Amino acid sequence: MMHKYKLYKTLFTLFCSLAWVMPLFAQTGEDAAKAAHMAWFKDAKLGIFIHWGIYAVDGIDESWSFYNGYLSYEDYMKQLNGFTAEHYDPEAWAGLVRESGAKYTVLTTKHHDGVALWDTGLSDLNVVDKTPAGRDLVGPFVSAAREQDLKVGLYFSLLDWSDPNYPNFTRTKKRYEQDAEKWDRFVHFNFGQLRELSTRYRPDLYWFDGDWEQSAEKWKAKALRDSLLHWNPKVIINSRLQGYGDYATPEQGVPVVRPKEDYWELCMTMNDSWGYQHNDHAYKSLNEIIRIFVECISMGGNLLLDIGPKADGTIPEEQQAILKGLGRWTKKHQDAIYGTRSGMPLGHYYGPSTLSKDKTILYLFVPHRPNGPLVIKGLKNKVNRIWVVGNGTKLQHRIVGKPYWSSVPGLCYIDVPEDVLDPEVTVLAVLLDGPMELYREDGQVIESN
Ligand code: GLC
Repeated sequence: MMHKYKLYKTLFTLFCSLAWVMPLFAQTGEDAAKAAHMAWFKDAKLGIFIHWGIYAVDGIDESWSFYNGYLSYEDYMKQLNGFTAEHYDPEAWAGLVRESGAKYTVLTTKHHDGVALWDTGLSDLNVVDKTPAGRDLVGPFVSAAREQDLKVGLYFSLLDWSDPNYPNFTRTKKRYEQDAEKWDRFVHFNFGQLRELSTRYRPDLYWFDGDWEQSAEKWKAKALRDSLLHWNPKVIINSRLQGYGDYATPEQGVPVVRPKEDYWELCMTMNDSWGYQHNDHAYKSLNEIIRIFVECISMGGNLLLDIGPKADGTIPEEQQAILKGLGRWTKKHQDAIYGTRSGMPLGHYYGPSTLSKDKTILYLFVPHRPNGPLVIKGLKNKVNRIWVVGNGTKLQHRIVGKPYWSSVPGLCYIDVPEDVLDPEVTVLAVLLDGPMELYREDGQVIESN
């Protein structure tokens, strides 16, 4: 009798402890599944965003210009007549994206103005029926990008200010306040267009936009996510689906502290416009863009850098030059970029850094011309070797201020000679004796000397 009681008790205790531990397993299982789903995105680091639409004809803000009342809807739509795509060369586009070192690209298939860049069967507001381009512009780019081994993302605006069933038209004009029937028709239309895109082009990623105008319930966000994954189980979805996405999308502003999300991507324009604008000459310099890029990867994120082709399909000279300049730099420093993880937290090194996946190589980015040696603080590891990435020169280091009795690591000084500097950002590889370990405590009092 006693024996049985003991057995029950043991089983009960075991059950209780499992009840505690199981959710932890479930959690790690979920994290592991997410990590597997996000793997290529996490390693990719650089993507090129392409905003191409009728707004390039007059060179005005995409969709917002009529929504905000800077010109009438009719005048905005007159641009349909000038959208020729006559020099559109999808192979050249994909080649240039590849040359920049980007691993993925995201094309606007439909912006908030509702003009579809593919031959949608669900509305005649598309470039085939309504513009001199007269053909599907999405398919050829998707194929060309895949030829170049690029992952393909499709940008799709959930809201559509042109659709008669969509409630909002401009900032000051609404089509209706409440109309369940119209709204249902609109949601059906959205699902339909996304089914077309999903089944025809099998995107690796969806880049939604405009979710802020309606709730998750109204978009049927959960059902939409389920459908997208049903059509393509591997698809990655950005955050702009009212809580049903996979990664965060800070816009324009480079994060100052490490974002709390594990997966994120900064989307940023090269000048001040997403689409092509004849009068926007405010291009960031190549050096600025590279420095922003390394800030992103040092905090574990990606950069989705935008270009805006002209209405005839040519990519402006300035944008081509930036992509090519980026290409020279990313090619030389590929080891420090692709597949790396976020580097040292601020305070250990005065600059951005990344770590190899196994955490045994620390990559230090040197965005300035050093005026004296670089310094690493609080590194517990022994440094086995330091070299200049893409150049190979071996560099010396010195450990300074490390008494034998103290557990506080000394300062690691590295001299960087003038002749190894890159014209943009120099990168050093620091090979450690094992996975990086950092000293984060308060220091030590001298108790005997
Ligand atoms: C904003 C704008 C849109 C632009 C997008 C790109 O959400 O609405 O015009 O396409 O950012 O990130």
